[in-house]
Amino acid sequence: MPEPVAAPLLEMRGISKSFPGVRALDGVSFEIRAGEVHALVGENGAGKSTLMKILAGAQPADAGEIVIDGKAVQIAGPRDAERYGIAMIYQEFNLVPQLDVAANVMLGREPVRAGGWLDGGAARAVAAAAVKQLGLELPLTRPVGRLAVAQQQMVEIAKALVRKARVLVMDEPTAALTDREIDHLFETIRVLRERGVGIVYISHRLEELPRIADRITVLRDGRVVGGGRVAELPQHEMIRLMVGREMDQYYPSLPPLDPTAPVVLSVRDLRSGNAVRGVSFEAHAGEILGMAGLVGAGRTEIVRAIAAADVPSGGEVLIDGKPLHARGPRDTIAAGIALVTEDRKGQGLVLDMSIRENVSLPHLELFSRRFGFVDRVGERRATRGLVQELRIRTPSIEQRARNLSGGNQQKVVLAKWLTERARLFLFDEPTRGIDVGAKSEIYELMVELSKQGAAVVMVSSELPEVLGMSHRIVVVRDGTIAGVLTREEATRERVMSLATTAHGAA
Ligand SMILES: Nc1ncnc2c1ncn2[C@@H]1O[C@H](COP(=O)(O)OP(=O)(O)OP(=O)(O)O)[C@@H](O)[C@H]1O
Ligand SMILES: [Mg+2]
Repeated sequence: MPEPVAAPLLEMRGISKSFPGVRALDGVSFEIRAGEVHALVGENGAGKSTLMKILAGAQPADAGEIVIDGKAVQIAGPRDAERYGIAMIYQEFNLVPQLDVAANVMLGREPVRAGGWLDGGAARAVAAAAVKQLGLELPLTRPVGRLAVAQQQMVEIAKALVRKARVLVMDEPTAALTDREIDHLFETIRVLRERGVGIVYISHRLEELPRIADRITVLRDGRVVGGGRVAELPQHEMIRLMVGREMDQYYPSLPPLDPTAPVVLSVRDLRSGNAVRGVSFEAHAGEILGMAGLVGAGRTEIVRAIAAADVPSGGEVLIDGKPLHARGPRDTIAAGIALVTEDRKGQGLVLDMSIRENVSLPHLELFSRRFGFVDRVGERRATRGLVQELRIRTPSIEQRARNLSGGNQQKVVLAKWLTERARLFLFDEPTRGIDVGAKSEIYELMVELSKQGAAVVMVSSELPEVLGMSHRIVVVRDGTIAGVLTREEATRERVMSLATTAHGAA
């Protein structure tokens, strides 16, 4: 598409922001034009969310100015931002779950009849029109709390449209979406862009940027280090700018699998609820077993059943040949199973504790008694080592988890489990929301764990990651195993075809 020639709709000039011990932004300039999708990328903790929070009036800048339509403006709070037509969609949506779709879309914007009564009919009509303009299908009278994540996101977008937003900021909008939902989101973004909305698009999925973004700005350590038109910035160059070094080898080389390696995990006819319907497979010591499938195929439910996070309704799980009769996670942790999920909160990241406390927090007394407790000095050393290895951006290991960026919180969750000596690691989407540099460190760590003789099962929706990191790939479809491929057999096409084709169909 042609380069927009219009003057920028909005400019941020020389923005700086510090937190105790952290220079989050250091003289950042950033501009948004009408009708463009401007991608903002950078490593975890680079300052992306902070920059956008300043724009949205959620945080004050220490220095710098914001210029809209050529005039300097003060954005002292969210109301100012709204007045200037700036809308932000955070990863945690700002919706009222009990209210229906129409009410959420219209929240704070309800038409009033003479006498001050709310005009419910008119409100619904406006909401319906916004939804229609976006080409969406949303059940207007359903409470938002009962919608899927992707639909809630669409409600947020409709909300922005009703508020006549001129700038819409989306912070990692595709992190929790399926491929089809992503297509849908991109369609909606294109509609907005054609209406002249300027869109800021934050994402760690660099491969999607050429599809959706016009321009890109790269932040590193709170500074702009490069950018330009997406079409002119190849992905490896983007990565080099982000991490500040060449990254030619993204996936570590997998040591070949020892054919005589003992079986660590056997799963026999495992059943759990409706989602897991008779699953059998094995994982060996030293093996990284990838688990592929469509979102909703039952992969998360399989690993949860193995770890007894959901107690299975049938079948058997054996660790080192011994049947596991687990009544809950306490038993499976004692048996040496670590389940590392993508859900930071459910995973027990305590936001008001420090990184060190989170990492060394004994999950269960049982576990610490069995493996012996880490001493204070060792604990600090181990935590510092992990902070370094995973490139957790923080002034110290005493920093509260709450003050870390989203991706860095995710890394703390990983670090917490990596200090344990489990026999079996179950990773569920381990790199979601994590930047390229740290992804590759996490891959190294997985290889390390497998070299130490553990079995690793990795559920991932990113096919390149599954293909790049697995000795074998188990493809899950409708709660059953559709097929198992060796590293040599596995291709994108074969995995996709197993994931989507019914059994027995040609
Ligand atoms: N309230 C806060 N208190 C202290 N430090 C903070 C606070 N908010 C952010 N920071 C720090 O500022 C830096 C930038 O964080 P920010 O959330 O902007 O990163 P990000 O680029 O959005 O990263 P991610 O990709 O992980 O979401 C980080 O070092 C973070 O720890
Ligand atoms: Mg962020």
